[in-house]
Amino acid sequence: MQTGSLVCVGTGMTLGSHISPLSRSYIEQADVVFVLVADGITEKWIEQMNADVRSLQPYYLEGKSRMLTYREMVAAMLAEVKAGKKVVGAFYGHPGVFAWVPHNAIKQARELGFTAHMEPGISAEDCLYADLGIDPGTYGCQHYEASQFMFYKRNIDTAAYLILWQVGVAGDRSLAKFSTSAAYRQILVELLRQYYPAEHQIILYEAVTLPIQQTRIEHMPLSALPEAIMDLKTTLVIPPAVSMQLNDALLERLEKLSAGLQ
Ligand SMILES: C[S@@+](CC[C@H](N)C(=O)[O-])C[C@H]1O[C@@H](n2cnc3c(N)ncnc32)[C@H](O)[C@@H]1O
Repeated sequence: MQTGSLVCVGTGMTLGSHISPLSRSYIEQADVVFVLVADGITEKWIEQMNADVRSLQPYYLEGKSRMLTYREMVAAMLAEVKAGKKVVGAFYGHPGVFAWVPHNAIKQARELGFTAHMEPGISAEDCLYADLGIDPGTYGCQHYEASQFMFYKRNIDTAAYLILWQVGVAGDRSLAKFSTSAAYRQILVELLRQYYPAEHQIILYEAVTLPIQQTRIEHMPLSALPEAIMDLKTTLVIPPAVSMQLNDALLERLEKLSAGLQ
């Protein structure tokens, strides 16, 4: 095994309060820390934990494909791993949730023979369950990236929650936009209208990243989505529209099994 190593840690969503002691310790012990967090204040907070903290934020440019950005971020981290350093990638939320860079950096580092692993963090999903009082086990919960949900034919269960991530850039095929217009969300609404009535109540959710902020929990009918205010951090939550239906045939089989008839 070679001397360089990589650990991708999550810093959680809210400045100061969500990071695990283990993730913090990895940041403090690293030779170099690459950081991708929600804002400059959070970045400054991480800078206090290690003498060599480098922001990955400048790789993002409007008009530049995010896939190129992501590959450059992975390359920057791997260059230091190959130089024999203890490298940490500190990503907001959970580094493995809707996050291409940490998964791929770890995969590539391992393929090159370096030790690499991930430490979980508190994601937007975790905050969403807490702030909206949703238990994903009550009705089930489906998560999709909004554009992927539009580009591919999917089967969804309207008796469960549907959660669409990155709805602020829904429908962007270039991967180069920082936002998409109402016209793109109108197409998303038309797709969703195959499953839900226009007046079905949806929720736009934004967890706080700084303790001084207010959580955004905005209820509106599905038809209002195109004109709603969007941000890169907005997550769309669509509650169930129908009741769960019993699977009578399967229940009958289970009944027979319990009665010793099968
Ligand atoms: C690239 S993903 C990163 C998610 C992150 N790894 C996590 O664990 O939450 C970005 C998407 O996460 C969601 N997101 C990020 N910040 C959020 C916030 N403060 N509140 C709600 N959702 C958020 C949005 O759907 C956003 O488009």
